[in-house]
Amino acid sequence: MKLVDALLAHQPRLVALRHDLHAHPELAFEERRTADLVARTLEAAGIKVHRGLAKTGVVGVLKHGSSPRAIGLRADMDALPIHEQNLFPHRSKHEGRMHACGHDGHTAMLLGAAEYLAASRDFDGTVYFIFQPAEETVGGARVMIEEGLFERFPIDAVYGMHNWPGLPVGQFAVHAGPVMACSDQFDIVLRGHGAHAAFPHQGRDPTVAGAALVQALQSIVSRTLDPLDAAVLSITRFHADGGAYNVIPERAELCGTVRAFRPEVQDQVEAAMERICAGIGAAHGVQVNLAYQRGYPPSVNDAVEAARCRAVLEELVGAENVRTDLRPSMGAEDFAYMLRERPGCYVWIGNGPGEGGCMLHNPHYDFNDEVLPLGASYWVRLTERLLGRESAVVDGELPETG
Ligand code: NI
Repeated sequence: MKLVDALLAHQPRLVALRHDLHAHPELAFEERRTADLVARTLEAAGIKVHRGLAKTGVVGVLKHGSSPRAIGLRADMDALPIHEQNLFPHRSKHEGRMHACGHDGHTAMLLGAAEYLAASRDFDGTVYFIFQPAEETVGGARVMIEEGLFERFPIDAVYGMHNWPGLPVGQFAVHAGPVMACSDQFDIVLRGHGAHAAFPHQGRDPTVAGAALVQALQSIVSRTLDPLDAAVLSITRFHADGGAYNVIPERAELCGTVRAFRPEVQDQVEAAMERICAGIGAAHGVQVNLAYQRGYPPSVNDAVEAARCRAVLEELVGAENVRTDLRPSMGAEDFAYMLRERPGCYVWIGNGPGEGGCMLHNPHYDFNDEVLPLGASYWVRLTERLLGRESAVVDGELPETG
């Protein structure tokens, strides 16, 4: 591996930084202490800092030379509402809040890279270090964009990175095309007529209609979509309560999530759900209302940018450690909003075995400190390559995945 020596030497400092962040997790749009720490660290390195985008977002601007080229490197800062079960010294000091997705590590790696680049300045152009709030569920990236991220900062291309438990330390994964799915959600309310459970003919049972709906909705993926389009429709709640053994309830509620990699598939699923809800409602004589909400869009890497990232990673860790054969994930990621605005690429960095609960969003998860100099080195080499003094162009494209 050809890591940046200075970052390897700085590993204890990066670890201390990461542990400090881990011990002080903050939830969406409340990352005040984290944002203070990020801003202070950037400013101490001589990087110009802009604050307040999406409340707690921080953008560091490092310009060197005369080239108009500009790239954005993004890290997420927020934690999750999980009660940490780890017992190590850097465990969360806040009940019910935890860095269970490694955003502490992402923040530390980008800070390490920013400090290094501010000192070395071996590039020509502008690097924007984007520290975003609220990646988990509420779309801090979207809010930063709505508040003018790309108007205020003329970024040509954006890059993201997420740790990946189960992928060995020292390996990365790059996808040309879709890498993470959309995360749509829906609520369905069935309104029938309550009745005595012994006289069902006097009522309209929303429970039986709901059960039929659960079954019928599963036919969308298998019967409506092209078999080569991946999608998931999961019902995650079914609530119907007559209040007693002998009461048919008035209403039932379902909710769930839809995952897919293409907007056309989202449209197809939504239309099919409307159709099935209306049909099941008519068949059972109950009123069925569907509220379908678009969540994070699919994260789709640009093939050219993916090839560039791949080339940088191959130099960093060797071609055998850059996986291009991994399937995309049905998880979702709000970096998708940035990828909709600008070409870019989101890579996975191996976090080591996903054992002993060290999986994303698990109360036993912890970011792997061995990875810190590796990820920071990637950001540095990517910047040096993309904003290189000679040429930023890397030839070749990856085949499409997904
Ligand atoms: Ni995450």
